[in-house]
Amino acid sequence: MERSIKVLRIGQRYVRDDRTLTHLCLVSRAFGAETIYLEDAEKDVTATLEEVNRTWGGDFKAVLGVPWRKTILEAKKEGRSVVHLTMYGLPIQEVTPKLRGLDKILVVVGGPKVPGKVYHEADYNIAVTSQPHSEVAALAIALHEIQSGEELKRTFQKSKLRILPTARGKRVVEN
Ligand SMILES: C[S@@+](CC[C@H](N)C(=O)[O-])C[C@H]1O[C@@H](n2cnc3c(N)ncnc32)[C@H](O)[C@@H]1O
Repeated sequence: MERSIKVLRIGQRYVRDDRTLTHLCLVSRAFGAETIYLEDAEKDVTATLEEVNRTWGGDFKAVLGVPWRKTILEAKKEGRSVVHLTMYGLPIQEVTPKLRGLDKILVVVGGPKVPGKVYHEADYNIAVTSQPHSEVAALAIALHEIQSGEELKRTFQKSKLRILPTARGKRVVEN
């Protein structure tokens, strides 16, 4: 099945957490999402991503500054299922068969504080263990489970550099 996955990170920054935001972008891109929506981030996050795209390929996008409610509304309008990752949700292993059947998905992760309304707007509230951990880890596992690991085989178009996987050392070639 042709699947389209977008990611939304909800949350205004109380402290600068550009490293977490950058990691969310990199994980989304590497694990097969096409776009991430960041409510509140510095422009240098997009600059970093553009450089990653130029070097390693693909056309992953980061959209900054759109309020979460608008992103969810638009996603629903285009027929996307909203999958909110929260430790309070249903265990992902119980819902995976349903999630794998969805062709358009908006995966939502929170930051320090997630508004209660998000739990009601979501079509699925999903936990990756019922323990607190990290949005970056939860996102990676959820993307991996939803795509049955198929994303691991993905190649990125129009890259400047390409890694030749090797058991030891580093092998990189120019395209
Ligand atoms: C610092 S955590 C806040 C934990 C929050 N109380 C919650 O509802 O999961 C930030 C984000 O990480 C994600 N997260 C943390 N633990 C998770 C878990 N066990 N399952 C799914 N997502 C998780 C959620 O998206 C959460 O909003």
